[in-house]
Amino acid sequence: MTQLSTDRVSHDSPQVCIVGAGPGAPDLITVRGQTLLSQADVVFYTGSLVPEQMLAHCRPDAEIIDTRSLVLETWRSQIVDRAKAGKTVVRLQDGDPCLYGALHELMVYLLDEDVSFEVVPGVSAFQAAAARLQTELTVPKLVQTIILTRTQGQTDVPNRENLAELAAHQASLCLYLSAHHCAKAQAQLLEHYSAETPMALCYRLGWPDEQVVVGSLSQMADLTREANLTRTVLYVISPALAGAADARSRLYSPDHAHIFRRKSRA
Ligand SMILES: C[S@@+](CC[C@H](N)C(=O)[O-])C[C@H]1O[C@@H](n2cnc3c(N)ncnc32)[C@H](O)[C@@H]1O
Repeated sequence: MTQLSTDRVSHDSPQVCIVGAGPGAPDLITVRGQTLLSQADVVFYTGSLVPEQMLAHCRPDAEIIDTRSLVLETWRSQIVDRAKAGKTVVRLQDGDPCLYGALHELMVYLLDEDVSFEVVPGVSAFQAAAARLQTELTVPKLVQTIILTRTQGQTDVPNRENLAELAAHQASLCLYLSAHHCAKAQAQLLEHYSAETPMALCYRLGWPDEQVVVGSLSQMADLTREANLTRTVLYVISPALAGAADARSRLYSPDHAHIFRRKSRA
């Protein structure tokens, strides 16, 4: 795999900004992302996963290119051409660019072409799901680990990341890109999670047609089929979804002192 050398990345006025748009709602982009979007000469965006309303942040005269029907080789060379022509370019992609966003191959190409870039994080689907479900995915004494993963589709998943083995941790597990293979995923997860483990199916969070269905892991495939969903679903499988009324972390505990607070008698 080509290694990315961070010392080649300049942080002064990057020619290309790769911006996370968040899960859908136009006001869930970061302030920095919105500012860059509003200044860009050219915006390349993933039309299948970034709603058009997000483009309201762009200048009316900005060139807007939807990459959903283009191959990588086409749009990445268009990005480089425009950047080398002195235009400010934003690549706008859903959620956070570091997750399942074909980010690595774009950055490698930009480095090879000597085009400087900045990556601006965004709210990922798993974070939007936790907020929508009003759940902390790391509840003390219950679960302290989050696994972000996907099932094997057209992209290979290494054998050592087999879903059944990840399930052994019984962590809060957020499953991307897996609606097509949800029956197989359910069977693998049930090798270690109990059938009653709470499961939330989250479709197009933040979009007008958002759907959120909460059930148990044993219902995951049936609920997906009933809702007729085959894409843009994030599953959250976690004991934390059931709540844990008496759980609290020590962070704000009266008997816990740290550098910002003395022990309190309360
Ligand atoms: C190509 S991946 C990109 C993930 C994205 N970079 C992120 O951080 O959320 C697309 C997958 O992310 C999840 N996803 C993205 N946006 C979503 C949303 N608004 N609601 C639910 N799931 C979403 C789904 O699992 C979808 O199949």
